[in-house]
Amino acid sequence: MNLLEGSVGVEDLVLLEPLEQEPLLKNLQLRYESKEIYTYIGNVLISVNPYQQLPIYGPEFIAKYQDYTFYELKPHIYALANVAYQSLRDRDRDQCILITGESGAGKTEASKLVMSYVAAVCGKGEQVNSVKEQLLQSNPVLEAFGNAKTIRNNNSSRFGKYMDVEFDFKGSPLGGVITNYLLEKSRVVKQLKGERNFHIFYQLLAGADAHLLTALKLERDTSGYAYLNQKVSRVDGMDDAANFKAVQSAMTVIGFSEEEIQRVLEVTALVLKLGNVELADEFQANGVSASSIRDGKGIQEIGEMVGLNSEELEKALCSRTMKTAKEKVVTALNVIQAQYARDALAKNIYSRLFNWIVNRINESIKVGVGEKKKVMGVLDIYGFEILEVRELHPITCLGPAPVTCHVSSCQGIPWTKVDYFDNGIICNLIEHNQRGILAMLDEECLRPGVVSDSTFLAKLNQLFSKHDHYESKVTQNAQRQYDHTMGLSCFRICHYAGKVTYNVNSFIDKNNDLLFRDLSQAMWKAQHPLLRSLFPEGDPKQASLKRPPTAGAQFKSSVAILMKNLYSKNPNYIRCIKPNEHQQRGQFSWDLVAIQTQYLGLLENVRVRRAGYAYRQRYEPFLERYRLLSRSTWPRWNGGDREGVEKVLGDLNLSSEVAFGKTKIFIRSPRTLFFLEEQRRLRLQQLATLIQKVYRGWRCRTHYQLMRKSQILISSWFRGTMQKQRYEKMKASAVLIQAFVRGWKARKNYRKYFRSGAALTLANFIYMSMTQKFLLGLKNNLPSTNILDRTWPAAPYRYFHTANQELQKLFYHWKCKRFRDRLSLKQVEILKEKLCASELFKDKKASYPQSVPIPFHGDYIGLQGNPKLQKLKGGAEGPILMAETVKKVNRGNGKTSSRTLLLTKGHVILIDTKSSQARTVIALDNVAGVSVTSFKDGLFSLHLSEISSVGSKGDFLLVSEHLIELLTKMYQAVLDATQKQLPVTVTEKFSLKFKENRVDVKVIQGPEGGKNGKLSCKKKGSRCLEVTV
Ligand SMILES: Nc1ncnc2c1ncn2[C@@H]1O[C@H](COP(=O)(O)OP(=O)(O)OP(=O)(O)O)[C@@H](O)[C@H]1O
Ligand SMILES: [Mg+2]
Repeated sequence: MNLLEGSVGVEDLVLLEPLEQEPLLKNLQLRYESKEIYTYIGNVLISVNPYQQLPIYGPEFIAKYQDYTFYELKPHIYALANVAYQSLRDRDRDQCILITGESGAGKTEASKLVMSYVAAVCGKGEQVNSVKEQLLQSNPVLEAFGNAKTIRNNNSSRFGKYMDVEFDFKGSPLGGVITNYLLEKSRVVKQLKGERNFHIFYQLLAGADAHLLTALKLERDTSGYAYLNQKVSRVDGMDDAANFKAVQSAMTVIGFSEEEIQRVLEVTALVLKLGNVELADEFQANGVSASSIRDGKGIQEIGEMVGLNSEELEKALCSRTMKTAKEKVVTALNVIQAQYARDALAKNIYSRLFNWIVNRINESIKVGVGEKKKVMGVLDIYGFEILEVRELHPITCLGPAPVTCHVSSCQGIPWTKVDYFDNGIICNLIEHNQRGILAMLDEECLRPGVVSDSTFLAKLNQLFSKHDHYESKVTQNAQRQYDHTMGLSCFRICHYAGKVTYNVNSFIDKNNDLLFRDLSQAMWKAQHPLLRSLFPEGDPKQASLKRPPTAGAQFKSSVAILMKNLYSKNPNYIRCIKPNEHQQRGQFSWDLVAIQTQYLGLLENVRVRRAGYAYRQRYEPFLERYRLLSRSTWPRWNGGDREGVEKVLGDLNLSSEVAFGKTKIFIRSPRTLFFLEEQRRLRLQQLATLIQKVYRGWRCRTHYQLMRKSQILISSWFRGTMQKQRYEKMKASAVLIQAFVRGWKARKNYRKYFRSGAALTLANFIYMSMTQKFLLGLKNNLPSTNILDRTWPAAPYRYFHTANQELQKLFYHWKCKRFRDRLSLKQVEILKEKLCASELFKDKKASYPQSVPIPFHGDYIGLQGNPKLQKLKGGAEGPILMAETVKKVNRGNGKTSSRTLLLTKGHVILIDTKSSQARTVIALDNVAGVSVTSFKDGLFSLHLSEISSVGSKGDFLLVSEHLIELLTKMYQAVLDATQKQLPVTVTEKFSLKFKENRVDVKVIQGPEGGKNGKLSCKKKGSRCLEVTV
């Protein structure tokens, strides 16, 4: 990272070139004008008061600075606070933050920023938060009672404050201790032009409600109080009323009870009222001037408020009791003395009240004994005021803490000597136990004889006449110097940064800080518990003649304690600089800053920082802290500490940045240290990640395994249960089906036993028996087997009707078959002929029924006895089928002539009866058809086919007595011979062929119906023949 990149000027004055006053100031100015109020000198922070709210504070910035190391971000007070806090938490080193600077330079603000940062980054939790709240809320209370408007600072701290915040091993705050130094109590009774008394007085008058004001016997108007500066009662931008509320609530948060708050306010009011007690001259008979209270009302009210006899109070104010071992002398005080006594009382009450408040806060925030703790101290000492002439009050030597540069040469490291101002000379001058200015002051106070400020100055002049850093009119005169700025009652101390002139006026008084015992005793007698407790020395039992320690002595001892305390801690410095005298933003007063940089010794600071080693530590803890940065030393290192450190730094290429002492490692630049810290932080993160990784892996794995096991268990149970349920269902179904089947089977078996089935069974039975009876009856009553007998018993019930008919048919067929089976072949032949006759003539010819019972003889002429005819029949054609005598009707005249007709298998032969000569032989295949009448006659015509030779003669009209037999046999013969059916026409009108003509024959039935075989023919024209039969 390039340090100078994007920065305004240099962020660290160590990098300043050339290293002189002017560039240093220029750099500060440049940065200030760009609102960069913070600058480093190494790890020392310079803060220039911006006199405006800059957007560089708050939670985001806190978060940012928490995450980065010192040099990674712009210089910031948070960075310093972070370093201090982390060092405290991680390295277990107590810290102190020393904030110095001019009044109004921003020390108190800086301390608040540090506190708020630490509060934000340290642990959390209900307990911790309440501790934090108490620590933070101590500020408004202490500021109300200890801060005041001065011409330099509207909120100037008029007391020194050192606050120890105590943490547990985790870095969470446990509580704290506040130490206060030298409240500027003179302010209670007198303020400079343009200044105010302590804030609380104004806050009380502005913020208290009417009820409280009455209770405290106060008026709201500030002009009514002698102790309050009449000219300045308000401060711009400061809301006294609101602040009063804030103070009240802060006190509640810290743990003050309602009553305690009330008491505190009462004492505060008391101080105000005391200022209004006017004293007047009183004439005394012995001529000694005395004093008394002018208006009794005020003192009366005070008396009432604190439960004190007003006369006693008056006595205490206006007289003084001198007590020696033997006697007690009461002297009256003159007005001046009485006023002094009154003011001293007011100042004492107020400063003791302030101490009490600090102690009360400490009680609330104190940490239980035995808890192991780390401490961070924040020192906000009140500022120097660059005054022409100083009073005793701010003589301190807490200025810039001496910059230590004692690089032990015993470590064997070459070092550069830097000339720097050794503050020890000044410290000695002021603080030396026997010969210091403070010691002289104490001595002067205790010395018998006439003591005054001028005798004190004379003593100093005498003692320090040769001292390089001491000047006064007397020493100047001795050296023949002329200096009109040096007053007669002044002396001057030449601090390394500049000369400071002190006026010895009332040094003795202030150092004595005397409160007449009468007053403390009077206060102790008050009913008011708080007031009373502020004056324990007023208790006559505890009264001692020993002088209380002087202010100087007290201060010296408290500073000594503080110094010891600070030296035991790791210091962090904040140097506050005030850019101008007007509390104006943006103004950079070169001269003013120049003075401040001088007495803050910034230039020397830079020089020392540049030359020396910023950091040193013994090898062992160093190695312990950083060995994780090298693979050789981590996780185990078996070598010596120094070798280990060398290894680590070698691996990081830092060997050139450091020097190796005999027992310690020296690091030149804080940057190296921060680099190491950063590397360590990263490495720790890596290691933490590793641990986390392994742990998370393990956790996830075990969790997974557990889940898997559970899953398997659950699924096995689930499957088991599912299968069980399925099985149960199947089983239930099977059982159900079984039950149904068994039931069905059982019912089937038992159905016969069912009453409902009985009817059917009975009906069946009855039906069967009826059928049986019917059939048996039938069997026994069968009709005769005569086929002509068609009788059949009727069915006894209608439902047998069809069966009965069928049986009848069966029986009849059977009867016929049996009949047929019994027939001989001949009979069969006869029957066949009869059948043929029936088919031809039944219901057609009237003579047919008579022919039925008469058997066919075939031979009606006695063929056996007639050899002539036998000859005729021709041998080859077999037996003659029919031989009969027929009448032939002459077609010409109608006369009949007898002819013998022979029917053979192939021919019809007509023979002249007389001559037994065959007249006509007709082949059967020439016979085209036969016509008969429907009457009982024997007339028939034989139609011949026209192409035949016989046919040419024409058709024959014949009469036969056995017409039925003849035509039947002819039909069969034609069928046998030609496989054709002979057409037999039953008709009364037919036509005959006759010599190429056709003759129509009309048959008429005669009276006998042709029965007798006679017929007469009547010719009607040539073509018509009427036959009557
Ligand atoms: N960082 C800051 N940001 C904004 N304003 C600031 C800052 N520091 C100081 N101030 C302003 O300067 C004023 C004086 O600061 P502060 O009271 O801290 O001075 P001081 O050094 O404590 O003076 P004193 O010695 O008189 O107590 C504050 O009231 C505030 O207005
Ligand atoms: Mg302050």
